Amino acid sequence: MRQHRTMAGLLGALLLLAAGLSSTGATTAAAASRAPRPLGRIVPAPASVAPGGSPYTITSTTAIRVDAATGAEGRRIAGYLADVLRPSTGYALPVRADGSGGIRLRLSGDARLGEEGYRLESGRSAITVTAHRPAGLFHAVQTLRQLLPASVERRTRQPGPWQVAGGTITDTPRYAYRGAMLDVSRHFFTPAQVERYIDQLALYKVNRLHLHLSDDQGWRIAIDSWPRLATYGGRTQVGGGKGGYYTKADYRRIVRYAASRYLEVVPEIDTPGHTNAALASYASLNCDGVAPPLYTGTDVGFSSLCVPKEVTYAFLDDVVRELSALTPGRYIHIGGDEAHSTPHTDYVAFMDKAQAVVAKYGKTVMGWHQLTGARPVAGAVAQYWGTAGDEAEVVAAAKAGTRLVMSPANRAYLDMKYDATTKLGLDWAGLVDVDRSYAWDPSTFIKGLPSGSVLGVEAPLWSETLTTSADVEYMAFPRLPGIAEIGWSPASTHSWPDYRSRLAEQGPRLAALGVNFYRSPVVPWE
Ligand code: ACM
Repeated sequence: MRQHRTMAGLLGALLLLAAGLSSTGATTAAAASRAPRPLGRIVPAPASVAPGGSPYTITSTTAIRVDAATGAEGRRIAGYLADVLRPSTGYALPVRADGSGGIRLRLSGDARLGEEGYRLESGRSAITVTAHRPAGLFHAVQTLRQLLPASVERRTRQPGPWQVAGGTITDTPRYAYRGAMLDVSRHFFTPAQVERYIDQLALYKVNRLHLHLSDDQGWRIAIDSWPRLATYGGRTQVGGGKGGYYTKADYRRIVRYAASRYLEVVPEIDTPGHTNAALASYASLNCDGVAPPLYTGTDVGFSSLCVPKEVTYAFLDDVVRELSALTPGRYIHIGGDEAHSTPHTDYVAFMDKAQAVVAKYGKTVMGWHQLTGARPVAGAVAQYWGTAGDEAEVVAAAKAGTRLVMSPANRAYLDMKYDATTKLGLDWAGLVDVDRSYAWDPSTFIKGLPSGSVLGVEAPLWSETLTTSADVEYMAFPRLPGIAEIGWSPASTHSWPDYRSRLAEQGPRLAALGVNFYRSPVVPWE
């Protein structure tokens, strides 16, 4: 696969060079504006590219074809593709089950493409997308969007032509877990705002949405057996605004929307620290029986559930039971970070019980990597958010079988300022411009990890300073696509000079989509 890519890349470069040499001046510029984007110039970089042959041109007579065997999910994905392409092309693009030519989506028995891989073949008469599972077809649709001119993303009719270069992309992800986290506790984001972010994540083949649903400043999910968590604990946020929470119907809507974009929701209830909103909602949860006031500041480490009290575990059981019933995904994230007000022996005892509750409801434990300083259960996933990569307890846990999701704060935290002039965000893990955010490898960031212990990557976005979708997008873009690439693309494709120029080409695309992105000076934007 890698050898193939190298050869194909070399061939592609030679063809480009030849094209550049054989034309000059104005003809080059005109041709460049009409020439299809070279196959493979997408984010994340595909695993294998073999350019060649004639381009495919989408015209007024193009149909999207899904054979009957590909089923209802395939037809839904075809409809999603049509919804992307129709407004800008102005073409009807009917979705059909029969005929030949056009854009064809098909599922095959080729298990080598895995749960998420796909093959996209483009030639004069057709584009044929093949996957083993629907998620692969969906990811291929994202690839196809990026192979078309950026103006395809506009919602009004644009001039064509709508060409896709000839050749074949064969693409499967490096890591199974490619996540993004949104902190909806420090500031609340509505279901519509979360859905907007989901659509943006899907563009880059992200497949997990971690929702940080509780913290000191707000509890954001309705729990029927403890209603005040949401109705009282959800009524404010950082800075004292009105906060908010998701009803169960809201949360189900988010889960369904995420699933329609092939993202699994990972809900987090942060424990035993980061719990002031819960402690404020129920006096009984406090060791002294006194509820603290709601909190709207940004300090951390001051709150703790009461580890010796039985009611703590009744609360936890109810919350995890109700949340598990709402969540089709496999994980429940129990936090475990910055429990500075919980004595260590209490922390270990608490995490033992919390993990058992997650198992009781059939879910897999996720926790921030401080869980590795306690006793992670078999199958637990620890989310690494350190900066040094030298934490002995993390390596020891990985050697004992704990799998890791990598979110090093000085690379993957989307809330770090880009530079000293960035108005939004924090800087405790340093200033992280786009090049620094891309400069790491999940398998080697922590020294001495056994191979296979990294399950994937995640880009968390903490919202102490963020109040609008425009704020979220400004911090996420353009770093999120880089983390997504680190999660999807083979290590052999990792190259800042190459990535920088592919990312530059995303600028007009993000602009066409109305995404508010930071025009970092380290990227040569188109
Ligand atoms: C964290 O940033 N406290 C996980």
